[in-house]
Amino acid sequence: MMQRVDFEIREASENEALLLHEYDSQIFSDSWSEKSFSDSILSDSETVPAAVNRATGEIMAYAAVSYIFEEANINRIAVRPEFRGNRLGTALLGWLEENLPEEVTVFNLEVRESNVHAIEMYEKFGYTVLGRRKRFYRNPEEDALLMTKRKV
Ligand SMILES: CC(C)(COP(=O)(O)OP(=O)(O)OC[C@H]1O[C@@H](n2cnc3c(N)ncnc32)[C@H](O)[C@@H]1OP(=O)(O)O)[C@@H](O)C(=O)NCCC(=O)NCCS
Repeated sequence: MMQRVDFEIREASENEALLLHEYDSQIFSDSWSEKSFSDSILSDSETVPAAVNRATGEIMAYAAVSYIFEEANINRIAVRPEFRGNRLGTALLGWLEENLPEEVTVFNLEVRESNVHAIEMYEKFGYTVLGRRKRFYRNPEEDALLMTKRKV
């Protein structure tokens, strides 16, 4: 586990899209392109928060979220391997509840059913399983669990 690091969460800027793509391609088999990140960063109905080391400016974790009316969908959430286990993923979930428009009260996401660490993090944060999307993922093919949380 890393030393305790002083970090802040702030929205990514367009010139960080390439870096986010590079991190993403090391983590996911269906990684987002640079353009997917820059489109999301620039969109009025999406946000890309990044957890950044205050001392070095390095991005350690990030998410990508779209929202409309009361619903948000977490399209991406990841912590770089060397920074996992330090509650950065949990901190990003918390940031979303605090920083999206007030009318956004429902948070949805899909997760590979084998991704037990992510599922545990979501459950600890109050998400529950709402359903299953059959063969939602490729490389490898797998069902998604649809998880949801209503902010109180
Ligand atoms: C899933 C992921 C985002 C978790 O981020 P993280 O910052 O390491 O998680 P947190 O430190 O906030 O963990 C919160 C809880 O989740 C569980 N958990 C998360 N990672 C775990 C691990 N490697 N081993 C055991 N439990 C784990 C624990 O219950 C933990 O609670 P604890 O701190 O009291 O032990 C991170 O592992 C990751 O980026 N994985 C690869 C990308 C991914 O799968 N994203 C989700 C796609 S839907």
